[in-house]
Amino acid sequence: MLSIAMARFFLKTLNSLLFAGLALSSATSDTSSAPDVTSALSFSSSKWIWNSATATANAVVGFRKDFTPPLGKSLIGAEIIITAVTSLNLYVNGDYIGSGGGRFAHRFCVDLLPSLNIFAVNASTTGSGTGTVAGLIATILVTYQDNTTDILLTDSSWRAKSSLPLGWEAPAFDDTAWPVATVVGSYDVAPWDTILVNIPADPPILSFAEAEWVWTDVVPASGTLPAGSRAFRRTFTPFPNQVPAAATIIISADNEYTLYVNGVTIGSGSNFKVAQRYTVNFATAPEEVVLAVLVTNTAAGTAGLLVGMEVNMVPSGRTSCTAGTFSLSNVGWKSTKSAIPAGFEQPEFDDSAWPVVAVEAVYPAAPWGTVTIATVAPVTI
Ligand SMILES: *[C@@H]1O[C@H](CO)[C@@H](O)[C@H](O)[C@H]1NC(C)=O
Ligand SMILES: *[C@@H]1O[C@H](CO)[C@@H](O)[C@H](O)[C@H]1NC(C)=O
Repeated sequence: MLSIAMARFFLKTLNSLLFAGLALSSATSDTSSAPDVTSALSFSSSKWIWNSATATANAVVGFRKDFTPPLGKSLIGAEIIITAVTSLNLYVNGDYIGSGGGRFAHRFCVDLLPSLNIFAVNASTTGSGTGTVAGLIATILVTYQDNTTDILLTDSSWRAKSSLPLGWEAPAFDDTAWPVATVVGSYDVAPWDTILVNIPADPPILSFAEAEWVWTDVVPASGTLPAGSRAFRRTFTPFPNQVPAAATIIISADNEYTLYVNGVTIGSGSNFKVAQRYTVNFATAPEEVVLAVLVTNTAAGTAGLLVGMEVNMVPSGRTSCTAGTFSLSNVGWKSTKSAIPAGFEQPEFDDSAWPVVAVEAVYPAAPWGTVTIATVAPVTI
């Protein structure tokens, strides 16, 4: 067993790796008009599970859970909150739903078959040493045709196995020989209490926790960055069948910023101690959510950009279930320090040649410290 300090160190390392991964994939989410059924979902009764008490590096572990409703009940759908250390892919009845992992859980919304349903996950530990902490945690709210619900938790009723054969996630796959999962910890009991910072909620509860202050330049030893303007971009691509309905964005910059979402000017700010919180509702569901920010360092000195976003999504054909994913400022962002190109804020602008940003500090580190958040009236674009 690891000491807590060691575990924290590993988790921190895993988390940085994970962010790099997440940055390249995407996010999911919820609508403000949908019934508030999701904020009740929590991990508090779920367990962290794995295939053994100790984890090994670069392992891939498969998990399966079968669920048949009680007699007389017919299933219609499920809302799933899930994360893993380090990363996961989720399949329901053999269909790929999405990926995730780390300190920011995802919320997925899926259709279910009337009776037997198979939830399958493969989770992996990447680039870490033997003895590292590894686990999967999920809470699944299933809804029946009569609108009643049940909650499924990760626990020893799941099966877990490494060395996965082809088709392990298919509904027809026979998992009866798989061992039951090992419960490796309770949610919010050390060392797991250090992992979860945020669970997508409806309405979103966004914080800057674990977001990173970024800039185009590596900060020199003098701590002084030149005055001037820089352009930043981040493209969010949803998982299959998850249609963006709204994005909630919190943003602060040292010294001044203008924020664009899918090419539309959303707002600006000029005091890094007071961030803005914007809600952008999408009149027509976009395929992607592209954030573009112009930041000006008004005088030589510190300079940085800090952003948190939760994208809320309504799966096609569903109205009372929403999905959610976070996207924070980190190495998933790109920037340029050359002359600001015309149209850089447009979604179709090609930023493939832009370098990734340099990370300066993890919120709430110095020199910026704690930032307060002022809410701005929602806009529809
Ligand atoms: C998880 O399983 C899917 C489906 O079999 C596979 O495509 C994917 O590569 C697996 N992921 C890992 C990390 O092994
Ligand atoms: C279940 O809820 C939906 C939406 O809230 C409603 O339209 C439907 O009539 C309800 N069904 C039953 C059987 O109560």
